[in-house]
Amino acid sequence: MFEKIPNNVNLSDNKRLQRALEQWQPNFIQWWVEMGPEGFQKDDIYLRTAVSVEAGGWAHFDYVKMPDYRWGIFLTPPTERTIHFGDHIGSPIWNEVPGEFRKELRRIIVTQADTEPASVEQQRLLGKTAPSIYDLRNLFQVNVEEGRHLWAMVYLLHQFFGRDGREEAEDLLTRRSGNPDTPRILGAFNKPMNDWLAFFCFTMFTDRDGKYQLAALAESGFDPLARSTQFMLTEEAHHLFVGEMGVGRVVKRTGELMKEAKSEDVRELGAIPLNIIQKYINEWYTASLDLFGGEDSSNAATFFGAGLKGRFREADPKRYKDHIALEDVYNFEVVSNEGRLSNTDIPLRRAMNLVLRDAYKEDCERALDRWNDSLEKLGLSNRLSLPSQRFNRNIGVYSGFAFDPQGNLLSKEEYETKKSDWLPTKEDYDYVESLMKPVYEHGKMANWIAPPAKGINNKPLDFEYVRFA
Ligand SMILES: [Fe+2]
Ligand SMILES: [Fe+2]
Repeated sequence: MFEKIPNNVNLSDNKRLQRALEQWQPNFIQWWVEMGPEGFQKDDIYLRTAVSVEAGGWAHFDYVKMPDYRWGIFLTPPTERTIHFGDHIGSPIWNEVPGEFRKELRRIIVTQADTEPASVEQQRLLGKTAPSIYDLRNLFQVNVEEGRHLWAMVYLLHQFFGRDGREEAEDLLTRRSGNPDTPRILGAFNKPMNDWLAFFCFTMFTDRDGKYQLAALAESGFDPLARSTQFMLTEEAHHLFVGEMGVGRVVKRTGELMKEAKSEDVRELGAIPLNIIQKYINEWYTASLDLFGGEDSSNAATFFGAGLKGRFREADPKRYKDHIALEDVYNFEVVSNEGRLSNTDIPLRRAMNLVLRDAYKEDCERALDRWNDSLEKLGLSNRLSLPSQRFNRNIGVYSGFAFDPQGNLLSKEEYETKKSDWLPTKEDYDYVESLMKPVYEHGKMANWIAPPAKGINNKPLDFEYVRFA
C-alpha cells in the first residue's frame, strides 16, 4: 500500500525526521485549507501524484480530494559524481551541509521554498472563474505540486539544518503573499493574480524562472539539494506547459476573433485584445527577470565559487568550456554617470544571474515564436514580443531608470506619459476581469480562449476532470 508520506528517503527508518515532519504536517494541512484553492476542497479532482522516481512511472493519476493529496518526498537516485564547477571542482559532493556554507545554503533553500506556498496563495481564488473544467483541473494540479515542492524543501530544512531549519519550516507557513506585514520573500510572489491571463503569464514566465533556479540548484555540490530540485523539475514541466499553452490559446482565440471582426478591437466579441495580452507579457516577463537578482552580484559569485549553484546545464560541454569561470568577463550595457547607456565588463562569476537569465530569455523567445506562428497561420500580421531586459525593472542595474520596451533610456516624465501603452492599466485589468466567468460544464470553453489540442493523460477534453461534491 501507499505510505502516508510517499517518499524514497527511507522515512520509516529515520524516526527523528519522521517525527519532525509529522509535527509539521498538521500545520501544513491547516495552511492548505485556509490558503489553498478556495471552494473546491471537498471535490474529487483528477490529479497525478508522484509515487516513485522511476521515469514514466512516477505519475499516478486518480481522483483525490485536495486536502487528502499525498504530498511526498522524492529525490532522484544518487549517482557517483564530484563537484563539477567552482573552487571545489573535482572534490567529492557533499551529503551533509558543509559548515562554511551553511548560512548560504539555508538562504538558498528558504528562498526557493517560500515561492512554493506563495504561488498557491496567489492563485487561491482562480478556481471560481476557470474558463473550463480542464483548466480548473490544471490549476489544482499546479497548486498541489507547489505544495509538494514546499515539502521537498522542508525535508531539506528538517533533515539538514536542525533547529533553525525547523523554525524556517514553520515560518514558511506563516508568511502570506501580498500581506504588507508578513510578505513572501520575492516581489513577483506578492503580486495579485485576479484573472486567468495573469495565471497563464505567471506559469509561463514566473514558473519558468523557477525552472531555471531549480536547474541551477540541480547542479549543486550539496547533493540532497541537487537531487531534490532535479525531481521537482519533472513536475515543473507541466506548470510551464499550462502557462505556455494557456497564453497560446488566448492568443489563438483573439486571432480568430480578429479575423471575424476584421478589426483589432475584439472587445465586442468578448475576447482579449492583443495589445492587452502584450501588456501582460511585458508585466510578468519583467517581474520575472527581477527574480534572477542583480546583474552584477557578489552573492551569485559566492554561490558559484562555492559550488552551491551552477549555470543552466553546467555539465554540457557544448555550453561551457570553463567551469571555474575566473578568467572571463561578461559584457553588458549599464547607465553611465553621464546618463547614457555604455558597455561595461564584469567578472563572469559576478554575472552568473545574468548568464542564467540569458538561458531563460532564450526559452521565452521560443514560446513567443510559437504564439506568433499561430497568428501567422491565421494570416494576421500582428506579432507579440518580449520587452527589453531593461524595461520596468525593480532590481539590478536598470532599476531606478526609465526605459521603453525597446530598451531606450527615457526621462521619467516621458515614461509616465507612455506607461499606459506598455503596462496593463486599471481599465485593462477591469476588462479582463469582466470576462472571467466560470465555465463548469464538461468539455465547454469560455469564449475568450481556444480549446487545448488534447486532454490530460490521454483523456478526452470533455472528461470529468473534476467531480463536484
Ligand atoms: Fe514549484
Ligand atoms: Fe511550478
